[in-house]
Amino acid sequence: MMKLILLGPPGAGKGTQSQRLVQQFGIPQLSTGDMLRVAVAAGSPVGLQAKTVMDRGELVSDAIVVGIVADRILQQDASRGFILDGFPRTVGQAEALDTMLAERSLGLDAVIELKVDEAALIDRMAKRVADTLARGETVRKDDNPLSFKTRLEAYRVQTAPLSAYYAGRGLLRTVDGMKPVDEVTGDVLALLGEPADR
Ligand code: AP5
Ligand code: MG
Repeated sequence: MMKLILLGPPGAGKGTQSQRLVQQFGIPQLSTGDMLRVAVAAGSPVGLQAKTVMDRGELVSDAIVVGIVADRILQQDASRGFILDGFPRTVGQAEALDTMLAERSLGLDAVIELKVDEAALIDRMAKRVADTLARGETVRKDDNPLSFKTRLEAYRVQTAPLSAYYAGRGLLRTVDGMKPVDEVTGDVLALLGEPADR
């Protein structure tokens, strides 16, 4: 049973590393960003509320996001563990998660923070846009310079305090997210005490 949080600014590699961990541990990636984008695409009530906020690069309300995670975490595939990608993002969300887990007598194994310079984040966003267009797919509405600036600011103001929150609980593990993808994965597995090629 592995319960992890991947913490890091937009473009840090949370999604990329989550997918590697899904392979390694056979547990699902719970990405609130992906779940919200599905809701927006479906035009559900949550999606209708979230769309404008997301397009601007601001955070969706704690109430909406906590509700989504509370439902998702109860699904069968999450019973043997999960990787939270992009949740929690505020201290309020972290407290709500603590309550959810405590109600089931569960705890977190680790909170992995991916550290990446702001200049590199901007380059990665631009590259993701170019790669997406090259594949003929639709670019994320919030992958533009203005929304990305807002996303970075939201991270600094609302999410960065979570590092201290989890450090205070002895759960924070920091990884250099500037390294190539495979090396970052190796570092994450090493700190979880896993052999790199199981
Ligand atoms: P979300 O979907 O979570 O987006 P984000 O946090 O802004 O991060 P990204 O998905 O852009 O980046 P990532 O860290 O996953 O990096 P990736 O692996 O893709 O959230 C979107 C929006 O939804 C929010 O703004 C908010 O509105 C809402 N939302 C979501 N969760 C919420 C919550 N809990 N509360 C409130 N609102 C919420 O990598 C990025 C690029 O870099 C890729 O092209 C990749 O190939 C490349 N790359 C990755 N790793 C490396 C590496 N090591 N070296 C070089 N390139 C790399
Ligand atoms: Mg992502």
